[in-house]
Amino acid sequence: MVRKTQFLLAVAAVVLCAGLAQLVMAQSGTRSYPQTQGTQATQGSASRAEAPFDDRLWSYLKQAQYRNWASLPGVPADGYPGNSPHGERVKLYVNRTAAAGQDGFRAGSILIKENYDASGDNLMAVTVMYRSEGFAPESGDWYWAKYEPDGRVSAMNNMRVSGRVGMCIDCHRSAEGNDFVFANDAQ
Ligand code: HEC
Repeated sequence: MVRKTQFLLAVAAVVLCAGLAQLVMAQSGTRSYPQTQGTQATQGSASRAEAPFDDRLWSYLKQAQYRNWASLPGVPADGYPGNSPHGERVKLYVNRTAAAGQDGFRAGSILIKENYDASGDNLMAVTVMYRSEGFAPESGDWYWAKYEPDGRVSAMNNMRVSGRVGMCIDCHRSAEGNDFVFANDAQ
């Protein structure tokens, strides 16, 4: 009986540790930042290594069921008209860390924009901003990624659209408050 309890406790501890490790990895992102911009979209010989960070980020978002996350205050949760290059209709989802400190999104903040066509029914792409301390001080420490509706990382010129993506940064630089985020700018 005692043995059995000990065994169950050990199993519980292992499961808990694995879960925590995954969370810490996703939240802090301190482990192995891939310089994905500039790497080939094909995985090639790296296929046996750990999955690239952008893929792991997507897995985390799916698992965290980001569609249950809230929008930011003042941003309609059921979507609103977007601007190019984002969808004609867009939906915003933010994690709790982002919701807790909008006047200076804390490290670990995740902002997700779903990009739909004009009808609002067809998902075209999912664009993500993830703030990780020290990742890119010159561009607000945001990690950028664009995914196809099926979760594959989008590719441009055979490069993965993830990491320090110049195209995203150049435009988001014009957001007020120098935080690279538009959604919290005065409406
Ligand atoms: C030409 C300008 C432009 C480019 C390029 C651009 N964005 Fe945006 N983005 C915007 C604007 C404007 C908004 C807010 C307005 C809206 O909802 O459409 C926005 C909103 C967002 C948001 C919601 C948070 C916020 O700032 O309001 C995310 C996340 C996002 N973009 C990610 C990306 C990613 C990732 C890329 C690159 C793959 C990218 N964006 C490229 C202009 C741009």
